[in-house]
Amino acid sequence: MSHDFDLNSPENIADPYPSYARLRTEAPIYHSADPDLWIISRYDDVRAVLRDPDRFSSDVGGLESDPFNPGLEMPRWLTGLLSRISAVRVLLTSDPPDHTILRRKVSRAFTPRRMAAWEPRIREVTTRLVDDMLAADHPADLVHDLAAPLPTTVIAELLGVPTERNDDFKRWSDNLINGLLTGGPRIPMVRSAIAISWFFLRTIRRRRRDPGEDLISLLITGEGDEALSQWELITFCILLLAAGLETTTNLIANAMLAIFDRPVLRQQLCANPELAAAVVAETLRFDNPAQGLMRVTRTEVTLSDITIPAGAYVIPLIGSANRDPDRWADPDEFLLHRPNLGEHLAFGSGIHYCIGNALARIEATAALEEIARRLPDMAPAGTPTRITSPVLRGLRSQPITFTRTKIPAR
Ligand code: HEM
Repeated sequence: MSHDFDLNSPENIADPYPSYARLRTEAPIYHSADPDLWIISRYDDVRAVLRDPDRFSSDVGGLESDPFNPGLEMPRWLTGLLSRISAVRVLLTSDPPDHTILRRKVSRAFTPRRMAAWEPRIREVTTRLVDDMLAADHPADLVHDLAAPLPTTVIAELLGVPTERNDDFKRWSDNLINGLLTGGPRIPMVRSAIAISWFFLRTIRRRRRDPGEDLISLLITGEGDEALSQWELITFCILLLAAGLETTTNLIANAMLAIFDRPVLRQQLCANPELAAAVVAETLRFDNPAQGLMRVTRTEVTLSDITIPAGAYVIPLIGSANRDPDRWADPDEFLLHRPNLGEHLAFGSGIHYCIGNALARIEATAALEEIARRLPDMAPAGTPTRITSPVLRGLRSQPITFTRTKIPAR
């Protein structure tokens, strides 16, 4: 393959799927010299990398610059900073045995049963946001008015953030995520990270004295090794914001883009809002918010006959694996009810499999159902603004119109 594949090019950000198809056929294990990375694009190889933490480590903290955002001066600062505070292990960037211990500690807070118990409240929040959109007298924006505030409100409630701190919480998490993932300004990001750590520190102290029903209270209790240490808990709360907000926002946005482009799909969904879960499931395959992850090789590894040296940075491209024709029939078609849909890699695979997957699906399903019922003629009212990241696929904004006749919530 010619040496012109650039993850960060504007064409690739706008629509990466044609480049992924070229990579899969011409250079499935592609070495990019600058930045020095190995890009893995076929389904079987991507899955193999994700399921092999012995050879492909998640501990990528030593990377000096961010290949996804070359313009960012200190882009991976948070993981870098945290990994320097000794004894603090971060779930996402740790390997066994540390990962195994941490994962066991936090998993009990994210069981499907616990997440399902949140569903009625998630639906209430969604209904209220749509009420506000219908009542507002300013032009509406899908991201600003629904897709972003839904996961932020839900995570704030899950963590038991008091309602009067909701605005601060929203501002801190926005600044953090903007700076961390999409090249936003650094100073507000650092200030917000400090503010949010301090906020969580005080919250944790309060919950120790006076526990509630929230996730923080749950995670500080437990016998012996079960409880998280103070810093483990602070970094975990921050990880939840970084991993759970933008991704869910973009799942909702990407699903709506698919619907805007497909009148028949829209008709089906509006006639049967219960199809929302199936639309969300296919969006996760078809246009997943998390397009690529990162690993570093611990030893020399041969993958599909190509040898990758030890210490190399590897990008398993989930977005490409999910469109691999060797795995999916008509991969570029948006089809409901694919027989093998459960095999998509949108939430990763193996030991780091997304802990928030059930929550994300519940939120996106609630949003799509509510739109189908109450804003059935929602349509774009201008060009969307894309997030300029090759790993995080989604929208910063999408102006929309809809008929403002109030269709009551069911
Ligand atoms: C559509 C929404 C989401 C997508 C596409 C997504 C995607 C992913 C992926 C691909 C991974 C694996 C990372 C790796 O292997 O390196 C992951 C891990 C993780 N996700 Fe999600 N995620 C979503 C929503 C959420 C939510 C809502 C939360 C929590 C509130 C969350 C929390 C986490 C955490 C804590 C991990 C680390 C798990 C570990 O390292 O063991 N995610 N996510």
